[in-house]
Order: sequence, then C-alpha cells, then structure tokens
Amino acid sequence: MIVNNFLNLNEIAPKNLEAILEDASKVKTAALKDFVLNEHYSSCLNNTITGLLFEKLSTRTRLSFEAAVLKLGGQVTNIRKDEIHLGQGETLQDTSAMFSLFLDVLVLRLYEEEKLYEFARNSKIPIINGLTNESHPCQVLADIFTFQEFRGSISGKKVVWLGVANNVFQSFLHAAVALKFQIVFSGPSKFQPGEKMLEFIQNDNSDILTIEPNPVVAVDSADLVVTDKWVSMHDNQLPKSDIDDLASYRVTKKLLGFARTDVLFMHCLPADKGQEVSQDIFEDNRCVTLQEAENRMHVQKSILRWCLGLY
Ligand code: CP
Ligand code: NVA
Repeated sequence: MIVNNFLNLNEIAPKNLEAILEDASKVKTAALKDFVLNEHYSSCLNNTITGLLFEKLSTRTRLSFEAAVLKLGGQVTNIRKDEIHLGQGETLQDTSAMFSLFLDVLVLRLYEEEKLYEFARNSKIPIINGLTNESHPCQVLADIFTFQEFRGSISGKKVVWLGVANNVFQSFLHAAVALKFQIVFSGPSKFQPGEKMLEFIQNDNSDILTIEPNPVVAVDSADLVVTDKWVSMHDNQLPKSDIDDLASYRVTKKLLGFARTDVLFMHCLPADKGQEVSQDIFEDNRCVTLQEAENRMHVQKSILRWCLGLY
C-alpha cells in the first residue's frame, strides 16, 4: 500500500506538488462541468475511512476535508481528543499504531509540529497536516491553485506577505522555493521570519525571500498580496504597542493601489476585519478569499488521492 504523507511543502517533490495541482484542476472541472467524469471520481475513496483529529478550532479545514471525502465516496470519522486515551494513559506512539489498524488516512490539526511528525513516524497510514503552530500546507496549496486559476503559473510572480511571519507564511515560504515564486515579507522587525525560516531559505541558497520593512515599497508591482490574523490560535494576545506597530501593515484599498492593477488579495480566514485587513477589502473585486476557501475542498480531494496513491 502506498503511504504518501502530506506534512510540509518543503518535503514534497515539486513535481508531486505540480501533480496534485493538476489533479485538482481535473477533479474540480469534473465536479462542476463533467457529470460522466465526475462519476469516476465520486467512488475513488470507496471503502476508505478518513479520520479527523483536531486539537484546535476549525471551520474550513474540517468541513472541506469532510466534504472532499464524502464527495469522493469515502467515509469520515471525527475523533474527539477528549474521548480518546491519547495523553491520558496511552502514548502517542500506541495511539498512532491503533489509528493505522482502523483508518486509511488521518488528518491532524495539532499545536506542536513535533507531535505531527511523531504520529507520522508511528503510522502505517498517510498523515495529512491540517495546520500546526508552524505550518499550514493544505491552505497554501489551495491558495496557489486559486492564484493559478485566475492568473496562470505562479512561477516568477511576486507574492507579498504583510504583518506577522506565522505558520501560513512559513508554508508560503516552502511553496515559493518549490514552485519558484518571489516572496516579500513586510512587517515590524519583531514579527519577521524566525531563525528556522531564515535557515531554510539560506540552505536553499536562493534569493526567493526579501524582507522589506516599508509596506508601500513591498507591495510595489505585487501579483498577490496576502495577510493573516496578527494573533494565531496558539499565540498570546498582543500588547497595544505591538498592535500600533502592525497598523501600517494593514491591507487597505490604498495600500493595494501600489500593487499591480491586476493584483489579487488572499487571506486564509478567519479574519479580524479592521485589524490586519480593512472591512471594505472583502467587497473589492481583487479579493478572492471565498474562492480560496472553496478551493480548499477541491485541492484536498487531490491531496487525499495522492496520499492514497490513486494517481
Ligand atoms: N483557513 C483555515 O484553515 O480555516 P479554519 O481554521 O476554519 O480551518
Ligand atoms: N495563523 C492562523 C491560521 C488559521 C487558519 C492560526 O494559526 O490561527
């Protein structure tokens, strides 16, 4: 049985990322326009069970995985952390081995990335990273798919990330190296990419990442502008002085005006409207956040199919 883990974008060969994006395009087109072809896809997960274990809140990731599995003919089981022995009388290693006996794929949303890898080391079934404190690869692959639907290949394009270099940003960095696009980070020095991210880029030996403290200079000629909440689920609330420092990195119509005229704006959601992004952006035609969210399901269908060796 093929076991392809989907843990981080820097560990998946670029040709496999391209293959997932290509498959997602076929599966989405079939779902929306080709009833006959869709019949073929709608049974590809027959007789499989996907487990979902989420330590953190989720609206999009959980629902889009559930929908993806059900639409491909598989079954889903939601595993509640407070109803299993994990961490209260059973080790992670033993729990992971048990999951391998009964499930075919496992989607995990955990706090610590190390725990995700420990699950994977002890698993005989594919593990999918549904977000950790450090990464969110399913989100970023859906974002790239969305960009490419609107604007064609992302290779060589300029992506500008504003605010805090968080888990979603790190997955963007991984994707930038794999798929060869430029990424510019713009935010206060306190929130700039940490050591691990800088080391990753240095090892790549490329000039893929630029750090530009001035947001207006950063977004100049951007093809894609992205931001996320300044405070992630695992973070502590920020003092007012930090919020004040971040304010000039808020995405506004005025700031987007310095980018290319065909720039797209993305945000993984949920958003703190009025903080990292102004409310009016969501009515602007450069904003594609709903398409991003919808594409989570289409791309995850192909992630599941790749993990199970179906293409
Ligand atoms: N974007 C995203 O992963 O959303 P959820 O936290 O709702 O899953
Ligand atoms: N950076 C956010 C993403 C939520 C989808 C968080 O980790 O809370």
